[in-house]
Formats: sequence, C-alpha cells, structure tokens
Amino acid sequence: MATAADHADLVIRNTRLIDGSGAPSVTGDIAVGDDRILGIGDLGETKGAVEIDGRGRAVAPGFIDVHTHDDRALLADPEMACKASQGVTTVVTGNCGISLAPLDVAAGALVPPFDLIAEVPAQAFAEFGDYLAALDGAPPALNAVCQVGHSTLRVGAMDRLDRAADRGEVAAMRRALERALDAGAAGLSTGLFYAPASAAPTEEVVALAEVLRDRGAIHTTHMRDEGDQVAESLAETFRIGAEAGVPVVISHHKVIAAPNHGRTRETLALIEAARARQPVALDVYPYVAGSTILDPKRMLGASRVLVTWSKARPDCAGRDLDEIADEMGCDPDEAARRLQPAGAIYFMMDEADVRRVLASPAAMIGSDGLPHDAHPHPRLWGTFPRVLGHYARDLGLFSLEDAVHRMTGLPAAQFGLVGRGALSPGACADLVMFDPETVIDRATYENPTRTAAGIDLVMVNGRAVWRGGAVTGARPGRALRLRDLGPKGVVPNSSDGR
Ligand code: ZN
Ligand code: CU
Repeated sequence: MATAADHADLVIRNTRLIDGSGAPSVTGDIAVGDDRILGIGDLGETKGAVEIDGRGRAVAPGFIDVHTHDDRALLADPEMACKASQGVTTVVTGNCGISLAPLDVAAGALVPPFDLIAEVPAQAFAEFGDYLAALDGAPPALNAVCQVGHSTLRVGAMDRLDRAADRGEVAAMRRALERALDAGAAGLSTGLFYAPASAAPTEEVVALAEVLRDRGAIHTTHMRDEGDQVAESLAETFRIGAEAGVPVVISHHKVIAAPNHGRTRETLALIEAARARQPVALDVYPYVAGSTILDPKRMLGASRVLVTWSKARPDCAGRDLDEIADEMGCDPDEAARRLQPAGAIYFMMDEADVRRVLASPAAMIGSDGLPHDAHPHPRLWGTFPRVLGHYARDLGLFSLEDAVHRMTGLPAAQFGLVGRGALSPGACADLVMFDPETVIDRATYENPTRTAAGIDLVMVNGRAVWRGGAVTGARPGRALRLRDLGPKGVVPNSSDGR
C-alpha cells in the first residue's frame, strides 16, 4: 500500500485516515512532500523531516466550503482564520447571484445584497480576470473556486433591474459570462430571491446557463422562493438545468416559515426524483437560522430577528430587532427601515428539516458565512466542526466518514476539483488533522467568532495554515481556474463514492 519516497517533509503516524470517499476509516500513516500526498498506509520505512504522532486523531482531506461569500475576504483578510480554523482548505465564492466581478464600478451603486460582499464600488473588478489576478498577486491561505453572479451581470448590462433583460441585454450578459469563464470562472450563480434578480424570468437564466454547457461550468442557485413556493422554485431550478444541459446545485437548501416546516420530506423527494434524470446537488448549513440583508420580506416568516450589522446604527449589531423596535417606540418593520442598510439573522427553520436535509444523499456542507458582518451568524466560524461534532458524533445523524465525505469527496466530484477531496498518493496535500472526540463548534449567536475546538492542523498545498489554535501566516492558496477543473455534477449511484 505504501508508495512514499524514502524522505518526506511530513509524516503523520498511526492516525485514523478518513479518505473522503465515505468508506470506513483505517489506521495508518500519511506522508506529505512538497505540495502533494506522497503515500498513505504503513509507511514504516519513510522518514519525515517532521514527524507527528497521530494517535487519537483523524486525518482527512481539507474541507471544501461550497457556499461562501468570501470573494472580498480572500483579499481583505487573506489568512482566512474563520475558515482555516474549521479545517476548510478550499472555498467556492460568488454565490447567491453576487460576485465582485465582472462589475464596472461606473455601472452604479452597490444595491443590496451586494453590500454583503462590498462596502464601496471600488472593491469591485471590471473584468473577472482582474479579480483572479488580484488573488494570484496576493494569495490567500486557502484555495478558491470563483463563480460569476447573475445579479452582477445584470448590474453591468441593464439600466434598471426591476424588469426582464431584453434580447440585447441578454446577449451582453452572455458575452460577459463567456469572458469570465474564459478567464477562469467556474460557474454562474443566481439569487432569484433578491430584488436585483427577482424580475428575471426563467428564460433569461436558461439563456445564460447555456453558455456554461459548452465550457463545462456549473450552475448554483439561491432559488426564487424557499417558503410557500419552494416546490415551484425547485421545478424552475430543474428546468434551468435540463434546458441548458448543466449540473445544478441548490444553495443552502431549506424550507422557511412555520407553515412550511416539515416540507423537506416533499422537497427532498422532488430532488431525488430529479437526480434520476439530471445532475442535481444541494448544500446546507447546520443551523435553524438563516442570515442575509435586513429585509422586511424575510422577516415575515421569522420567529426572531437578530441584527448582524447596520450602517445607520452600528451600535445595534448583535441585538434583537424586537428590542430595538421597543426602544425606538415603533414596530419592527419601521425599525428595520431605520437601520438600513443592514443585515440580520432570521430564526425561521425547523430542526427536523435541517437534519433531514443534512442527511440527504446529495447534501454537501456549505457555510454561507458572511465574513464582513459586524456580528455574524455563527455559521461563519462553526459550520464544519458543528457537523462533525454535534451532528455526526453527538447526535449520530451519520457516520464521521459520511460527514467528511459531504465536505470533501462529494463536493470535489460536484465541482470537478481534480486531485482534491481525497487522501491518495499524488493528490494535493490539502489536509486537516482533528480530534474526533473533541471537535466541536464554539461560535454561538451571542459569541459568533469563537474558534472551534479540536482542529489541530490544517494544510493547504502542503503548507500549514492553522496550527496550535492560530493561523500560521502562510498563504499557499491558489485561485483555481475553470481549465484546472474536471467534469462537474454527480450522477447518483455512480461517482458519489458510496
Ligand atoms: Zn443565498
Ligand atoms: Cu449565500
């Protein structure tokens, strides 16, 4: 089994090897040389420049956070402690229809939800290639797979966003998308729920998604509706994937508002049926509260609203909206208006639904963390250890191997991350060593930036980025290009590893 050279930069011995495929773990050694895994198994003969006794620990492929809004964080906070501390080694950016590129700042102000990723228009990039070049020039600690946002394309092509794009505008968006893909964008995301895109008909998205097919790119979507109309929105998503001939990923799948609680039985059945016909996957974060801009439309189905940031009243970050409204002597809608622009956490899901989605066969883990929020949702710092510690170990929702698979092998197959998401000789040395007995999230709604427990060592491309409870300062991450990626989309019961 051992294929390592005689000498390695690092050997971790007698550890629990969880290879990312979902297969049962085995005890053995793993050797790293340069940016690659040299060998796994019994590596008795191999000497490491550094040797680590891995007893009582597990080693897995680094986690892939498939749903992030880290577009600007990668540049502004390149050590990426919020993610490195969880064992994340690759992030997928540009979700929910919003990306920093291609966005000509002259095109206008940053309407919500762009304020989730940019504070001022100057933080945007006119060309997608410029954004990727910025990452190359100032590399972050983690690898990045970057998507183009549909809302971003709309801002660039349309004079107003409250209508469908006309033929000329669709053609302009198609050209901009082609340029972005040629520069290295991995796919197109939509945020049809949000105002800058909600007026777009299905046909507009299909016309753009067609551009993805020939280039082997992927489509991800924050669907038009996750409440009463969730079944209709799933049908729209399947239609876009089928008509354009592209794999689709349903972002942060959930059903919201009390009358819809329990409906994941129905939505997951619809997704399973679709997966028999076309490549469909989903991502999920392990919490009953969501988070985005502060929006009265969102508040309707929420039992509690917690403010995460406010430009008008920065002092209100971290407080309950009801309490703020009381203090202001107005209703919550009016209080929300006075806080704008602002963000919030919404308690609007049912725990049983969250568990059902987490355990569903097509589910990958994506944090949807908002790295620029003053008082962020704890998912930003806690998602991956929470799945491993709370849901896998403590609740037994699935095995540790299955949990790791949803963070590694499954997303690697879905996004075409060749040579990542697996422990095998020759694969990129993106690794996490953690303690299966103690790993747990510590970020809470009250203290959202506390680091997780039990994550010992995180390596990206063979270099440690997190060790001993702190970032190392190393920034070995790479901005992966579409041409670096393999085929995308997972056909059920074939390549999803179980
Ligand atoms: Zn979203
Ligand atoms: Cu999102």
